Amino acid sequence: MAIISSKKQPPEPNGQPKQRRESVKTPPDDKILQPEAAIDEQGKQEESIRPQRFADYIGQKDLKDVLDIAIKAAKSRGEVLDHLLLYGPPGLGKTTMAMILASEMGVSCKITSAPALERPRDIVGLLVNLKPGDILFVDEIHRLSRMTEEILYPAMEDYRLDITIGKGSSARMRSLPLSKFTLVGATTRVGALTSPLRDRFGLIQKLRFYEVPELSKIVLRSAQLLQTPITDNGATEIAKRSRGTPRIANRLLKRVRDYAEVKVCAEIDETVASEALQLFQVDPCGLDWTDRRMLSVIIEQFNGGPVGLETIAAATGEDTQTIEEVYEPYLMQIGYLSRTPRGRTATKAAYKHLGFIPPNEQLSLLP
Ligand code: ADE
Repeated sequence: MAIISSKKQPPEPNGQPKQRRESVKTPPDDKILQPEAAIDEQGKQEESIRPQRFADYIGQKDLKDVLDIAIKAAKSRGEVLDHLLLYGPPGLGKTTMAMILASEMGVSCKITSAPALERPRDIVGLLVNLKPGDILFVDEIHRLSRMTEEILYPAMEDYRLDITIGKGSSARMRSLPLSKFTLVGATTRVGALTSPLRDRFGLIQKLRFYEVPELSKIVLRSAQLLQTPITDNGATEIAKRSRGTPRIANRLLKRVRDYAEVKVCAEIDETVASEALQLFQVDPCGLDWTDRRMLSVIIEQFNGGPVGLETIAAATGEDTQTIEEVYEPYLMQIGYLSRTPRGRTATKAAYKHLGFIPPNEQLSLLP
C-alpha cells in the first residue's frame, strides 16, 4: 500500500486527509524571538534587569554549584579563578555569568568579543591593562584569528605576553609579565574551538535551556524591576513562549507590557499575555515564522525528511549558521526536529503541532 504524504487533519469525507494550504503566515518584519543581544535603548534596559549576584540568578543550578565551589576554593587559596569556557545557545546568560563571577570575586570584568580582536594589538592592549584577578570575557571565542589565539596561549598558561619587536633578521622576541587574570570564553559552537585553545581552559561548562518554571520566575523578577503588574499565570504564559531563553522572556515581557498599557489593562494576566503574543506571531510553544516554515518545508516538500541544511536555508531565507546555532537547538530540545547523518527530519510532535497527521497515523484514516 502506498504511503500518503503529509496531510492536515481532519480527513476529507473521501477518507483522504485535507492538504494543508497556509501552514505558516508571512514572515514578520522584526525578530522578536532572536536571542541576540540588543544594542540600542532596549539594550540599556536589559542591563538594568540583569542579575548582579548569584543569589539573584535563577536557574542553571549545576553550573552555579560548580562555580560556587571554584570561587570559594580560589578565594581561600588567594588565587585567581581558573580560565572558564561557557558554551550553549545564545541568550542563556553567559555574559551575565561572567559579570556575576567578577562581582563575587570582587574584581573587574572587561568584556569583548572575538570579531573585535582582529589585530594582535587589540588583544595586547586588553591584556596589559588587566589588574590582578580581573576577568577578561571574550564572546564568540571560536572566531578568534590565529595570531590572536597564539598570543593568548602563553598569556593563559604563564601570564606572559610574547611579542616580536622589529622585522626580518633583526626581529627579536620579548616576554612581558602580565597580571594573573581569568579568561572567560563564551561560544555557541564549542566544537569549532581549536584543541590547543580548548585545552587551556580549566573549567568547561555548558549552559542549558531554562525550564518554564525558571523562566516564569525570571519574568516575575523582571516585571517587578520594571514596575509592571503581572500575575503568576501571565508570567507562565510568557515563559512558555520564550524558547527556554531568558533574553527572549524579558523581550516578550516588554512587548506584552506595551500591549497592556495601550489596551489599558490593569495587569498582565494569562489572557493579556496570550493576546499580545498572538499579535506578535509567537505561537504557544514559542515558535516563530522561521521555525514553522522550516518544519513545514520538511513535512510538506520532503515527506518529513531527511532534508539537507542548505535546502532548509534556501526555503527560509536564513543562513545555515543561524539555523544551526539559533533555530535547531530549540527545535531539537522540544523534540520537534532530529538531526541525522542524512539530514534533518521532522518528528511526530512537529507534525501534530503544525496540524499535520504523522505518517504512521495516516494509514488508519483510510477507509
Ligand atoms: N535575567 C536574565 N537571566 C536571568 C537569570 N538567569 N536569572 C534572573 N534574571 C535573569
